[in-house]
Amino acid sequence: MTDVAIVGGGVIGLSCAFELSRRGSSVTVLEREQPGFGASTVAAGMLTPSFEVELTPQSLVDLQLDSLRRYPRFVHDIEAAGGESCGYRDEGSLWVSRHRDDELELDHILRIQQERGLPARRLTGREVRALEPYVSPRAVGGLLVESDHQVDSRKLVPALRAACEAVGVDVRTRTRVAAVERSDGALELTLEHERATSSLRANQVLLAAGVWLEDGLVTPLPRIGMRPVKGQIVHLQGQPLVRHVIRNSDVYIVPREGGRLLIGATEEEQGFDMNPTAGGTLDLLRFGFEVLPGIYDLDIAEIDVGLRPTFHDHMPVLGPTTTEGIYLASGHYRGGVLLAAATAHWTAEIMLTGQVPSEIEPFSFQRFVAEQTQQEAAS
Ligand code: GLY
Repeated sequence: MTDVAIVGGGVIGLSCAFELSRRGSSVTVLEREQPGFGASTVAAGMLTPSFEVELTPQSLVDLQLDSLRRYPRFVHDIEAAGGESCGYRDEGSLWVSRHRDDELELDHILRIQQERGLPARRLTGREVRALEPYVSPRAVGGLLVESDHQVDSRKLVPALRAACEAVGVDVRTRTRVAAVERSDGALELTLEHERATSSLRANQVLLAAGVWLEDGLVTPLPRIGMRPVKGQIVHLQGQPLVRHVIRNSDVYIVPREGGRLLIGATEEEQGFDMNPTAGGTLDLLRFGFEVLPGIYDLDIAEIDVGLRPTFHDHMPVLGPTTTEGIYLASGHYRGGVLLAAATAHWTAEIMLTGQVPSEIEPFSFQRFVAEQTQQEAAS
């Protein structure tokens, strides 16, 4: 018997496990592959609420900002508990415009960022190159967001696992949860590990299963339309060309330690397909080359593919469900790494107190149930 069983050992499941365990719960994490498989270790790790600001509802921008504020403490606590670095960097991000249309777009983004309380500064092409000399001489302007930061997701996931284990979380890998059901006043999970089946009883279950939330996992919950959005990222290796995250509307370029540069990311509706493609790689390299021509001489180190978990409104689901004791922290789409700190804090708060604070209500499971009821009434 465990207080909390968490289905999914990605950045969300592990962050929530760490927080719940530190607050006194016994926690078991059940991961079908290795921690971070699917989305978390593929993620670029950008802590950049500014990025999709024009498409993001204010409630989600507020949650992103809340999470960004919590990040330094979150990283400190993970590193202090487990002794491993999360690769946190605070250089900020730099939008680069290639022509007049990009310039108009940056003016538009700046206006929205200012309305939403995100500090940013417009730059000339000359100022962009003064900050980042390898940016294309054709760049005509830029936008600097100094409050944007980043972590290295390939460090964050093992650091979180180490922190979880240091505070007593039982992290089980290659353990697939086939079913969760209520029985005799608790929740019963059916587990599959190396072709053997076993069960685990828990007082509470948190579903943080990413794209597998509704794939091969039987629960009493109504289906709410989880779907994967494929993202390819090209990893280049060589001379470190930039310090900031570089961005325009087509591509982002993320510097990592040791001369690695990530060029991301495609956004594709391909179901559960995780194969890299020539077309995806071609687009990323072409867009990256327009902004940073020096990538031409770098080595291709690898092409990484992840599956972003999302619902039709692209908002996460956080909190209680229609079944007593089952909670969700799922559907973080393009923002799982950024939202991890706030998700861990608020999920632990909700599961331990039973209260859902007003800032988390926009992310309720109930919004899907209400939609389904309206659709049934209309048909
Ligand atoms: N967070 C960036 C992406 O999903 O590509």
